[in-house]
Amino acid sequence: MPWDLIQLNSGYTIPSIAFGTWTLGNGQGPIDQVEQALANGYDHIDTAQSYRNEAEVGTALHEDGSARGDLFITTKYSGTNGLDIATSIQNSLDNVTCPLISFYFLLSFLSSQCKLTIRSWHIQLGTSYVDLYLIHSPRLAVPDIPTAWREMEDVHVRGQARSIGVSNFNVGQLETLVASAKIVPAVNQILLHPYVYQQQLPILEYAAQHGIIIEAYSALIPVTKRPGGPLDAPLRELSTKFGATPDQILLAWVKAKGAVAVTTSSKKARLQGYLAAGDIALSQDDVAAIDKAGAIGEQRDKAKGTLHKLALGALVGASVFGLCSYFNVRIF
Ligand SMILES: NC(=O)c1ccc[n+]([C@@H]2O[C@H](COP(=O)([O-])OP(=O)(O)OC[C@H]3O[C@@H](n4cnc5c(N)ncnc54)[C@H](OP(=O)(O)O)[C@@H]3O)[C@@H](O)[C@H]2O)c1
Repeated sequence: MPWDLIQLNSGYTIPSIAFGTWTLGNGQGPIDQVEQALANGYDHIDTAQSYRNEAEVGTALHEDGSARGDLFITTKYSGTNGLDIATSIQNSLDNVTCPLISFYFLLSFLSSQCKLTIRSWHIQLGTSYVDLYLIHSPRLAVPDIPTAWREMEDVHVRGQARSIGVSNFNVGQLETLVASAKIVPAVNQILLHPYVYQQQLPILEYAAQHGIIIEAYSALIPVTKRPGGPLDAPLRELSTKFGATPDQILLAWVKAKGAVAVTTSSKKARLQGYLAAGDIALSQDDVAAIDKAGAIGEQRDKAKGTLHKLALGALVGASVFGLCSYFNVRIF
């Protein structure tokens, strides 16, 4: 396995690449895609209450038939339907028995034959525990971070999650949490790619100091959503050097930062490529070249943001001035 296991502060290990189900939707599509990922060697599935496809993930896991101990399953508390953490984790697990699962498949089969849709029947993940349970966002930590984290600790104590963590927490929010925590979060899953690396660096540093593993999502944004930036040149050069694609170089960069890569693809070739990226050993100079180009992109984004604000300010000012002149109101 080119992607190593990473040690968590909970005593468990985490596979350092995950297949995510965020944009997969519902129905047979996500079931097929999760099965494709498992068949191609992924053993870490990242889902969430708000992705609304935990049931599809559960179906794929059962159909795949891998031993539970060979899989690493992450889900997240997303505050869906205003439910609390204790109710949400139970709903996500919804550990039904084998006869019930068989009954579900029988119902599914009959419904497909009769062109009926049974939408209300969910088996969810169909497991008694998840490997990792995360608070999806700090805004969901209600009524406050310490109280919500105590509920997460209870989830762990009840054996419903082997490890617990957070997602999208900044340093201040982590400090608030850690100040009253009995259990330090095992991970913080955050947006991480070279165009946001400098702004996320304090979170990475805090995490390293407190034994919290960083999980990086949307690491491919520089090629999927932001092509044409300063990263294009080093990504091209490194792709040539390693005989790899820019996606693979970005995932190798995540690995070089010691983070878990949470990615996804509907395509078998890309899934295999992502796994092969675990073999790419970027040198310190390679990583520095990516960091430098990322920082230039980040500076440009900041400058653009400032220009936008100035332009907006000027527009508002001009409008106010125009209206005052029109209505003969003196403002100076
Ligand atoms: N905690 C959070 O708040 C949070 C937020 C966002 C995401 N996540 C997790 O992270 C996972 C991955 O998120 P993401 O989809 O944003 O990650 P990503 O790894 O940056 O992007 C994966 C997507 O990029 C596409 N792609 C890959 N290479 C490409 C290329 N060369 N050209 C064009 N498209 C390409 C893939 O499409 P194809 O299907 O065409 O290959 C796939 O849809 C999610 O599923 C979720 O589990 C968590």
